[in-house]
Amino acid sequence: MKKVIHIVGARPNFMKVAPIYRAIAERTPLEQILVHTGQHYDAKMSDVFFADLGLPAPDVHLGIGSGSHAQQTARMMVELEKVFLAHPPALVSVVGDVNSTIAAALVTSKLGIPLAHVEAGLRSYSPHQPEEINRLVTDRLSDLLLTPSRDADANLLKEGTDPARIHFVGNVMIDSLFASREKADKLPVLKDLGLIPHGYAVCTLHRPSNVDDPKTLGGLLSAVAHVATRLPVIFPVHPRTRKVISEHGLNTWFERTPSLRPVEPMGYLDFLALTSKARLVLTDSGGLQEETTAMGVPCLTLREQTERPITVEEGSNEVVGTDPVRIRLAADRVLDGEGKQGRVPEFWDGRAAERIADLFASFLGVEDRPIQAASA
Ligand code: UD1
Repeated sequence: MKKVIHIVGARPNFMKVAPIYRAIAERTPLEQILVHTGQHYDAKMSDVFFADLGLPAPDVHLGIGSGSHAQQTARMMVELEKVFLAHPPALVSVVGDVNSTIAAALVTSKLGIPLAHVEAGLRSYSPHQPEEINRLVTDRLSDLLLTPSRDADANLLKEGTDPARIHFVGNVMIDSLFASREKADKLPVLKDLGLIPHGYAVCTLHRPSNVDDPKTLGGLLSAVAHVATRLPVIFPVHPRTRKVISEHGLNTWFERTPSLRPVEPMGYLDFLALTSKARLVLTDSGGLQEETTAMGVPCLTLREQTERPITVEEGSNEVVGTDPVRIRLAADRVLDGEGKQGRVPEFWDGRAAERIADLFASFLGVEDRPIQAASA
């Protein structure tokens, strides 16, 4: 039977691949191979997600680990080429915009293997952002461009992409969210942290542009510490951010503000339980902008721009930049009752993975299912 190889590597990949893997198993006869590059290797950044999302253990684990962009991407490419030659796939499926995505895209195209990109067409229009480079190159090389929102279709068309390659399937990350919400609601996370529903905020920061420079990170922490004077702020700290905090003495923000509470990175279900009942989320994550929109939780994005504008146009997200004064004013507005609720965008309906599975089957000629996805 024809094989699909899925590539995962970093934390935001797992919740995208889990529903696709499940839908393909349920709806098609395709064989599936799951390859983990090992870009993220801490148990709290990787293993826990497999358990939480019901993803099977990877068939192949490359154990690449950290390094400069060139080192990390190059090591992945060398190992992925071996895997694709040993298990020739009919299609390689990549998700998102991390280094594992672009490494797989480059190897796949050079070997002449068809490539599908899930979450295609997003653009921040910041040419030096590593994720933007990964998105541009991956989209350029992909045979199937599976988009989460209509703005992504428009971006691809503007770049001269053949409309036949573009398929609006909806947001696969929201499939995982809807499938897990009930389970997450039963977890004792709030009780364990001594929180009451809607009585706390959540903060995450990990973008290199926000955390690598201690001055920028210090400014952001000062704004978040202000929020913590009004209600507890739970801050699961990414390893990249933790390193800068401890190397540059930024721990003082936590010592001075006990209600600003750093915690270890959390698993998918625990974090969902936490964010779903938050009064406010402050973040520089892409996925969290989407998840808060799907749950109607007010979100302030601490970046100058977003590649997910639909979360601002239709959802509960507001892009407030990195100026501490602006963040404080925006947070005060939300806490004073003026937070956005928004609405859930088109095709963020929990069925994006089914559309993707049907598209893969039809692309590979193994099943004669009607394609639910709308072509651009
Ligand atoms: C990567 C993605 C980013 C995504 C993020 C989610 C790229 C270019 N960036 O950024 O788009 O939003 O994942 O988390 O692919 N580290 C650990 N343990 C781990 C993983 C990383 O300690 O399991 C530390 C290492 O010191 C490493 C640093 O974090 O050098 C950064 O990891 P890396 O995978 O390079 O990028 P992220 O910042 O995690």
